[in-house]
Amino acid sequence: MTGYYSSDRARSEYLLFHYGSDEDLSADDLIAKTALHFPVRCVTECLDPKLPPHARALDLGCAVGRSSFELARHCEKVVGVDSSKIFIEAARTIQKQGFLEYPIIEEGSKIGLRLAQRPEGISQERIEFVYQDALGFCRSSALFDVVLVANLICRLENPKALLAVLSAIVSSGGQLILTSPYSWLEDYTPRANWLDGLQSLKDILGIHFELQRTFDMPFLIREHLRKYQCVIAQASIWKKK
Ligand SMILES: C[S@@+](CC[C@H](N)C(=O)[O-])C[C@H]1O[C@@H](n2cnc3c(N)ncnc32)[C@H](O)[C@@H]1O
Repeated sequence: MTGYYSSDRARSEYLLFHYGSDEDLSADDLIAKTALHFPVRCVTECLDPKLPPHARALDLGCAVGRSSFELARHCEKVVGVDSSKIFIEAARTIQKQGFLEYPIIEEGSKIGLRLAQRPEGISQERIEFVYQDALGFCRSSALFDVVLVANLICRLENPKALLAVLSAIVSSGGQLILTSPYSWLEDYTPRANWLDGLQSLKDILGIHFELQRTFDMPFLIREHLRKYQCVIAQASIWKKK
């Protein structure tokens, strides 16, 4: 895979987005704390912790891995899948070494260094990070009790194809956690494949899943000291029939 998600810039932005401190992410408290730590909130706000024993979770489009670590607090086995090699390598380094130093842009060519640290209290041996295309992985995958698909669908060439295959990998009664800002761009998704937000999700997923709740999840991605992307993803929580 080429493009933004294989760039050093994306690696730094996502390491900060996933592992950054309140101080680095909140711009001296100008930004509301409720918009921070999105990858952690994907688990704390979205997961129903009532899970079967030996629960298995899948984090599709896991990037540099923070939600996978958080899922491992609840599940015995977690697989994080991403098609960016540098993201998966960063996630594996944090998993094995416990930390990873990375540069962030302060302003222009002024660079700062930060440390991404493996979250405390997690059995890192529960997690496996896989460098693979999400659709390819799902087509040959075993069943999972929890599948998290955070902000992936509008980065796929064919989001409908991925949504259609999800019912085959979520166990009966299992949870599908989907978040998306439906931020369609022809760079990733041909216009003919763009979906119609929640309505399309209901049309495609509604056959095999029951929609439990939807809510907004704001977050920010820091580009440099004085510039942030502000995004409002819609979370939709589904239960396999
Ligand atoms: C917008 S980011 C979201 C990352 C993460 N879930 C989060 O919420 O921070 C999209 C992620 O999907 C990955 N991705 C894009 N296309 C993919 C594909 N076909 N298969 C697997 N991962 C993909 C990118 O490398 C990137 O890590």
